[in-house]
Amino acid sequence: MNLYDRIPNNVNLSEDKRLQRALEKWLPNYLNWWHDMGPDGFQDRDVWLRTAIDVGSEGWAHFDYVKMPEYRWGIFLEPAQADARVGFGDNYGAPAYQEVPGEFRNSLRRIIVTQGDTEPASVEQQRLLGHTCPSLYDLRNLFQVNVEEGRHLWAMVYLLHAYFGRDGRDEADALLERRSGNPDKPRILEAFNQPCDDWLNFYSFTMFTDRDGKYQLSALAESGFEPLARTCKFMLTEEAHHMFVGDTGLSRVVRRTAQLMRQNENVRELGGIPLEIVQKYINFWFSYSLDLFGGEISSNSADFFAAGLKGRFKEQEQYTDHVAAEGSFTMQVVESGKLVSREVPLRNALNEVLRGEYVRDCEKGLARWNKALADEGRSERLSLPNIRFHRHVGEYAGSHFDPAGNLITQEEFAERKVGWLPTIEDREYVRSLMHPVTEPGKIANWIAPPASGIKGKPFEFEYVRL
Ligand SMILES: [Fe+2]
Ligand SMILES: [Fe+2]
Repeated sequence: MNLYDRIPNNVNLSEDKRLQRALEKWLPNYLNWWHDMGPDGFQDRDVWLRTAIDVGSEGWAHFDYVKMPEYRWGIFLEPAQADARVGFGDNYGAPAYQEVPGEFRNSLRRIIVTQGDTEPASVEQQRLLGHTCPSLYDLRNLFQVNVEEGRHLWAMVYLLHAYFGRDGRDEADALLERRSGNPDKPRILEAFNQPCDDWLNFYSFTMFTDRDGKYQLSALAESGFEPLARTCKFMLTEEAHHMFVGDTGLSRVVRRTAQLMRQNENVRELGGIPLEIVQKYINFWFSYSLDLFGGEISSNSADFFAAGLKGRFKEQEQYTDHVAAEGSFTMQVVESGKLVSREVPLRNALNEVLRGEYVRDCEKGLARWNKALADEGRSERLSLPNIRFHRHVGEYAGSHFDPAGNLITQEEFAERKVGWLPTIEDREYVRSLMHPVTEPGKIANWIAPPASGIKGKPFEFEYVRL
């Protein structure tokens, strides 16, 4: 097998022998990881997958039947821009960094490793879901997400190997050694250690947690370190489908529940998922995903911005002042048991600025699901909890809030949380509904079929050959 077939790429890998050797050494370890921790039980099945073989509009969306271990994971960067410049921060306007600037080396490695760690983590979290798929269409979407997260790991590992030498190689190995939820060697970020063992979790995860990925990648796509910016831009094109899976998946659950409610308000009797449980899953995954943006007041965010490493969402499109050295941001913080306003220098509030963009994006999803409820003649509505609710990172961690954002006591939270977050019984109930439906064109009772199939194929298409 020639090099391009083993590692498809648009980075001239064949001309860089050192990098080629490093990646060829990493490849079998990656495949071992995929075998151990990738989707359980479907490795030798033909799955109708999209494969990126180039970044051009023709090349990146190539659809065909593929067995997952034979998926062509590759390294694809958006083409370089002539005369690229650092787009923000203290070095605004300077030539973009083509190598890692020595003074930012540790920060940059940490950014890349933290992003890279989330990619295999989600594959691990989702590895058993195939056994309970609601349809072949959904099964295929799960596997599409999984192989692309594998490719995103490749994207970050490429940067580590190509730009960080020895310590980059060590970090690339460690990315295959940590395990989601493992108490001794967990994944770096908490949302990626939470179990994702039923399909309501999966849709919530791809809606809320993959969407955090969109905002992190967008901020890094602005980076003055050009290889990182170009890598993230291409990853974003794949990420869009993951969020589509989550957004439409939840919409289909909500629609089906509303349909069942017409026959019986107590949808449990009909094997549906009650809206209260959907709301609790929203509360759970939204709050854990908010944590991924980091502390509200952050000197790291200020440093990353000053260095030109991590920008704001759509930095070039949305802003005119790319230095942002002045200006402030007002946020609510907890001080001696009370919520008070605090003014923070803008650069220290950039995590919160990015989080705000994310929340607005999530609200659009909620509006779509509520429209599904309205279409089905229901008056119930779903909502996002306040950003202070159920937080484990930042200003609100350690205090307790109700979903409306009111400060409450620990005792009150403990007493009322069964109404706000999934209980063991809720999770068991959802799991009890998860039986595989694998006949082409058939769908589980608790979810509505999609509005259309994938890439012009009908819903009845045999997306996975079992
Ligand atoms: Fe990803
Ligand atoms: Fe993703």
